Amino acid sequence: MSVKIPIYASLSSIGAYVPSRIVSNEDLSKIVETSDEWITKRTGIKERRFAEDNEATSDLATKAARIAIERAQIDISVIDAVVVATISPDFFCMPSTACVVANNLGIINKPAFDIAAACSGFIYLLSLAKSFIESQTYKNILIIGAEKISSILDMEDRSTCVLFGDGAGAAVIRATEDKSLSVLDVQCAANGQYQELLMTPGCGSRYPASAEILRERLQFIKMKGNETFKIAVKTLTKDVVEILQRNHLSKDEIDFFVPHQANLRIISAVGEALGFSSEKVALTVQKYGNTSAASIPMAINDLYESGKIKQGSKLLLDAFGGGLTWGSAILAFGGQ
Ligand code: COA
Repeated sequence: MSVKIPIYASLSSIGAYVPSRIVSNEDLSKIVETSDEWITKRTGIKERRFAEDNEATSDLATKAARIAIERAQIDISVIDAVVVATISPDFFCMPSTACVVANNLGIINKPAFDIAAACSGFIYLLSLAKSFIESQTYKNILIIGAEKISSILDMEDRSTCVLFGDGAGAAVIRATEDKSLSVLDVQCAANGQYQELLMTPGCGSRYPASAEILRERLQFIKMKGNETFKIAVKTLTKDVVEILQRNHLSKDEIDFFVPHQANLRIISAVGEALGFSSEKVALTVQKYGNTSAASIPMAINDLYESGKIKQGSKLLLDAFGGGLTWGSAILAFGGQ
């Protein structure tokens, strides 16, 4: 009888890409009635990136993926699956953005598919990759959170268009026998009772594309910001407490808290409620805005490129988004 050696999933590399076009609060104040002062005070955002008209989500995702693959020091041919989390796919319905990215990278005859969990997308990806690897289905999975969210922003709605930005973050999740360098735990959840707080109502099967839907601008993101804010702070805090308790870890054993980058006030409120000092909290919202599914891998990449994390650094991830969805993860960084 053969005994299976336990296999764990390791986040073995990280990469990110942002478009070069910087859009400042000042730039937006020329389009909608807003100001740098309002945006900075209410959100902490100073600028964000918007992709060019000829750049699609898959272009950003492919660039982030190439960096992650190079840093993982693996040959592309060993990648067993490509999964993308996005709410701004290249094409409505099909093909998936993952199929486009896999083709760009020369990965064929391997599974490639998208998931939609809005801003919680990267946590859902981690959960999926961990299951695939620990069940010994695959050994190397490329996961990518990528958004050209500017393509679904209503540039006439000041309450949403100032909040979001474009970007992509990618990671290679690899099989390892070393539990100390693995994704220790992931928890994901959703509550569809709150679906109307944050949605793109138009152009799906509920309200198919029509001249009227477009006239009413229902193809764009709509958000009840204030209600979402309150639920976000409560849910994110509770989620972190639960995952730490479940893993018998204290916040002092965490090297970096990497929350979804939606709003500096949410990040500060959650960080303070949990007792994390500000230098332990990853912060990119001021320069990239809310990049939805890309936000957490972009923030991990920022820590990596600034030399703050090294192999074994313990990260606590926490996300929240449309659905409503949320989730958290604890991992020891497996990269070099
Ligand atoms: N510039 C200037 N004024 C603006 C504005 C802008 N860009 N956007 C909204 N306002 C105005 C509103 O019209 C309102 O004016 P009124 O009082 O005259 O009606 C006022 O500012 C306050 O609006 P409100 O929506 O209550 O502000 P807020 O303090 O809740 O901040 C958000 C708005 C969107 C920044 C905040 O609610 C938020 O971050 N929400 C959560 C976002 C989030 O977590 N998303 C999660 C998942 S992605």
